[in-house]
Amino acid sequence: MKTIIHGQIFDFIKNPSDCSNPGDSYRFLVDGSLVIENGYIKEVGDFNSMKSKYSDYRIIDHSDCLVMPGFIDTHIHYPQTEIIGSYGRQLIDWLNEYTFSVEKNFNDREYAQNIARLFIKELLKNGTTTSMTYATQSAVSADAIFEAASEYNMRFIAGKVLMNRNAPSVICDTVESARKDCECLINRWHHEGRNLYAITPRFAITSDMEQLKMAGELHKKYPDTFIQTHLSENPSEVKTTLELFSDCRDYLEVYETAGLVDDYSFFAHCIHLSQSERQRLKSAGSIVVHCPTSNLFLGSGLFSLKETIESGIKTCIATDVGAGTSFSMFRTLGDAYKISQLQGYTVNSLESFYSVTYGAARALKLEDKIGSFRIGNEADFIVVDYRTPDIQKHRMNYLVNQGKWNVENMLFGLQTMGDDRNISATYIMGMPAYCSEGACISES
Ligand code: GUN
Ligand code: ZN
Repeated sequence: MKTIIHGQIFDFIKNPSDCSNPGDSYRFLVDGSLVIENGYIKEVGDFNSMKSKYSDYRIIDHSDCLVMPGFIDTHIHYPQTEIIGSYGRQLIDWLNEYTFSVEKNFNDREYAQNIARLFIKELLKNGTTTSMTYATQSAVSADAIFEAASEYNMRFIAGKVLMNRNAPSVICDTVESARKDCECLINRWHHEGRNLYAITPRFAITSDMEQLKMAGELHKKYPDTFIQTHLSENPSEVKTTLELFSDCRDYLEVYETAGLVDDYSFFAHCIHLSQSERQRLKSAGSIVVHCPTSNLFLGSGLFSLKETIESGIKTCIATDVGAGTSFSMFRTLGDAYKISQLQGYTVNSLESFYSVTYGAARALKLEDKIGSFRIGNEADFIVVDYRTPDIQKHRMNYLVNQGKWNVENMLFGLQTMGDDRNISATYIMGMPAYCSEGACISES
């Protein structure tokens, strides 16, 4: 298990937004290598020097490709894999018409296992090596996704959804059944192998305060579990929430009252926030997760990346499949760029890629494990063919001739036109977990 990966090595060492010159935020070795031992990064360096230093290591040739840390998707729903691209509804109607119908199926173990496997394969095909995933309310569905991720030894975060009202009874739990199921799942999966648990109240509309408070108590009891939920996605969702919790001054206060707002909390969407809510999220150290393809698809609104970043809130970008329309992080970043353009804010491609690699790892407090090629990190990485399809090659040749070909431009091309066809291979703990057709992993 001693390997040298020969490739064009790229990773972040700092947040580009913190650098006066964003070019100082990353490392790029054109003729580089990752030295891997037993699944961990042992060294990163120039290929020729690593080859002579580690002369007994097996060499794998990816020298034509970019080799970078795998993507981290901080918000996604595996039970919604099959309802991706469901027509014609906005959030609440979309939940009632499509989502709750499909989620009923996950009370059945075999159904859940089949979709869980399909989902994991789709992540790997798109270069995502870690995701924070919702299951359904059924504990069986949470077991199924942890089991499927464990088959590949992925670093994986998931949780059973908490939901005790405003949904069909077959996909509702109760305060007590949810507490019991969560405790069992935490004991079974949290820190089991590379798995971690996220306490997952779906959103304020589908849990009463007693259940939300129970979730807060669980997090207090198991303080390194994550919390994931939705916040301020859609105007009518916000209105209904404030009707249901009429003693709260705003949406965030519902979660604050329940003890669900701290630096382990990941709030998806956050489109319609007040200044006060932004301020309180920042003070709590919570994380806002921007879900661009989903927000466009459901017509939820235009998230202001500029305001959120300027407020100093930790921000990630994620797919939110199945309201999100693609598993591809390239496509997701492409839509984030366009949403910001509509608001007159041009997102740098380095900021975008940081938010789905090292930035996401830092938000998860997992930066000593994933998200970059730091020595000692787990070797989860992807091999990216940035010349596919042909149009990318023409774009590259044009930029080369103009003397403008650089890392930022390469990443920008990927986020503008890339998709799963650009992922040649995905490695988990130094082992190939996915390889595209035609891209064989060759030793040199
Ligand atoms: N709000 C509550 N549940 C969901 C969900 O499944 N998807 C999205 N996009 N928003 C939600
Ligand atoms: Zn979601």
